[in-house]
Amino acid sequence: MNPFKYGCAVDGKYFCQRPKLAKRLREYIKSGQNVVIQGERRMGKTSLVLETVRGMKGIALFHADFLCVRDQSDLCKRLLTAIARLESSEGWLAKTIKTFAYLKPTFSIDPTSGAPTLSVDARLASEPTTLDAILDTLLAQTAKRKVCAVLDEFQDILDLEDGERILAIMRARIQLDSNTPYIFLGSVRNRMTNMFWHPSSPFYHSAAAFPVGGIDPDDFFAFISSRFAIGRRSLDRAAFDVISSIANDTPGYIQEFCDAIWDETTADDTIDNSTIERALNSVFSREQEHFTTFMRQLTAHQTRILKSVATLGGKAVCSKEFLSASATYNASSVKVALSKIEKAQILYWFDGDYRFVNPFFREWLRRQ
Ligand SMILES: Nc1ncnc2c1ncn2[C@@H]1O[C@H](COP(=O)(O)OP(=O)(O)OP(=O)(O)O)[C@@H](O)[C@H]1O
Ligand SMILES: [Mg+2]
Repeated sequence: MNPFKYGCAVDGKYFCQRPKLAKRLREYIKSGQNVVIQGERRMGKTSLVLETVRGMKGIALFHADFLCVRDQSDLCKRLLTAIARLESSEGWLAKTIKTFAYLKPTFSIDPTSGAPTLSVDARLASEPTTLDAILDTLLAQTAKRKVCAVLDEFQDILDLEDGERILAIMRARIQLDSNTPYIFLGSVRNRMTNMFWHPSSPFYHSAAAFPVGGIDPDDFFAFISSRFAIGRRSLDRAAFDVISSIANDTPGYIQEFCDAIWDETTADDTIDNSTIERALNSVFSREQEHFTTFMRQLTAHQTRILKSVATLGGKAVCSKEFLSASATYNASSVKVALSKIEKAQILYWFDGDYRFVNPFFREWLRRQ
């Protein structure tokens, strides 16, 4: 069985311990401090938070995920589902359904996680009072027992038509609940920064900043090589460093790469550069369709700029070297092209650097 997992939160033996971060997070949770967790996509934010809370005794986990939330009724459904999952007993589920009977809740089982999911009547759940009622129920729970409330992909609430109103309502409730640690997670750094550090935002300065970067390379090497060892594949540090660098030191992409390497190897193999190359080609062919879709969106000029970012990096995009590599005379036309590429979600800008959302696409472009 393939010992690598990607594209979802990981736990148990699939989770590489991050003791320093977990210790800091536990301290915040114990003291009831709200925290805002920021980091690039697939860095392991959700896994870290869920695994840490699950490992703490006497704390119930409330986990609502707002990824691509569509409207208030969808948001209410996700909050209610998270309330229904606060306890795994059937009695608790029945009680939640009874409390919200007026929303005509329907119960189903999530096919991937096997966890209960509640749907509600969309028209009734769009009423402003419904959101208040659901948040009041959550607060009634947090008043009774120690809960850690995890609000994942929190920045997506901003995309709702009435996102600001909803955020203001949530903020007012959260403010009342000063003993409960609320953990806000977001993967779009710039937007999370605006939400928590812009003076006009309702969440301004309301939580401690908690950045999550890559996993310590020594720890992750030990973890990944032990996963390969399960199938008698051997991985040395130099090969791991090559894998990690191609995957932009991002745990989710490293695991995806290792999954492809696993498929290219059998027991007693040693992973070397030629294995890595074969696995990379297999990742490229899995992603070929995405890469072609990305390319179709770009003009010839934008493609040249993107290739220059792939080969020269995204920091000095106005340098002579960058302009000449992109056959461009004009720095402002580079900026216009980059903004189009950013809108297409191929690159994102952070900390003075244009970075590839998907590091395999960068690698693929480098080889074209
Ligand atoms: N501690 C860890 N140990 C091993 N693998 C990890 C760890 N954390 C993350 N990963 C890898 O990264 C993938 C994504 O993890 P997770 O969903 O927790 O990240 P995230 O930062 O929340 O991602 P997203 O930005 O998509 O929400 C996992 O499926 C796994 O492959
Ligand atoms: Mg996540």
